[in-house]
Amino acid sequence: MTMSMAATHARGKKAKDNIFVMNARAQEDAKINGKENVLNGTLGSIMDEEDNIVFLKAVEKEYLNLPRNEYVAYAPIAGLPEFLEAAKSECFGESRPDALIEAVATAGGTGGIHHLVHNYTNPEDIVLTADWYWGAYEQICGDNHRHLETYPLFDAELKFNFEGFKAKVLEVAAKQENVVTIFNSPGNNPTGFSLTDEDWDKVIAFAKELIGNGKNKFIIACDVAYIDYSGEKQTVRRFFKKFSQLPKEILVVACYSLSKGFTMYGQRVGAMIGITSDADVAAEFKEINALTSRATWSNICRPAMRTMANIVMDPAKLAAHEAERAEYCELVQERAHIFTEEAKELGLPCLPYCGGFFLTIPTEHAKEVVEELTKEHVYVIALKHGVRIAACSIPKKQMRGLAKIVYDVMHRLGHL
Ligand SMILES: Cc1ncc(COP(=O)(O)O)c(C=O)c1O
Repeated sequence: MTMSMAATHARGKKAKDNIFVMNARAQEDAKINGKENVLNGTLGSIMDEEDNIVFLKAVEKEYLNLPRNEYVAYAPIAGLPEFLEAAKSECFGESRPDALIEAVATAGGTGGIHHLVHNYTNPEDIVLTADWYWGAYEQICGDNHRHLETYPLFDAELKFNFEGFKAKVLEVAAKQENVVTIFNSPGNNPTGFSLTDEDWDKVIAFAKELIGNGKNKFIIACDVAYIDYSGEKQTVRRFFKKFSQLPKEILVVACYSLSKGFTMYGQRVGAMIGITSDADVAAEFKEINALTSRATWSNICRPAMRTMANIVMDPAKLAAHEAERAEYCELVQERAHIFTEEAKELGLPCLPYCGGFFLTIPTEHAKEVVEELTKEHVYVIALKHGVRIAACSIPKKQMRGLAKIVYDVMHRLGHL
């Protein structure tokens, strides 16, 4: 046995990230065989058609021209007040719920998920999400001594599996007071799936029914990391209005991020936004989450918060920013549709893509398929039950024909 100095609860933890490993392999291959001969569909960052990482122009200009003080000074623990207002405004658009709304700045959307899990469940509690989920949820739960459990996202018709969701919630509600469910919609990572407005109606109606038992409280977390790449701005935000005047035992937490919508992945800025009808719950939300920030990372990146606030508060800057972002939203969707259309023609199964950065081919042989694809200089991500393809980072010329490569590989391996 190897020597360990770690405390018992920390022993055996591993931070190796499959996605960054695959990305490194793609880069190595590109060095040897030429960039144009390697397809890198691993990372969740937008690359333009020339394979350069996109920095949205309005953001770049604002960020690089801040007053000196903004780069250096601390920010308040809960976040710059102007940023928090801007985050609420950008997150909800025209669909701001009629409710009490509080926000706390977080280290990316990831930070919001962390605080949600840490402050709204007890140690050893279950946190719920759908079975197609972003791997970090599991790591955050595990590191906080919580257990991530899942319900099947899709029914037999590849629609939202409300019955599966309901059954799992009832199971969890029988074991613990707070039921925390994370919805990664619109534009789910890894599938690109989004709940419809009718799906949300059902979820909310059920949440109301459940808390009627007088025993449970319901926390609906909306991880909206991909909201700006999931369709028309106001349409994809419409569901937020449904969180108006909910019973006080239902708290909605939107985990909002600047990583994608403002292309500031590395700046680590987001906000968790609490939506409630109860003043005590709202005040508590602010206090407990700001304290957890203090106890985890203290304050976050001031220049990125200032940049975003300046853009959102200036109608001309915001309009220019949104126009450029909308073009990239269209580009990513166009790339995804090249794949899904070709897949359909070939008979290659593909999970329903509505928006976001990724799409997924379901298979129980993902590791083998992904390894075989590397022989074709194609680098994508093996999930437990599928292969994830980053539409955000694959130029159209490489996207054309990719479905055929995947189809041929799966066929060759006998998995189709
Ligand atoms: C599903 C999902 N949620 C949240 C995030 C948050 O990202 P960040 O912490 O960079 O804001 C990501 C990023 O990859 C994601 O895929």
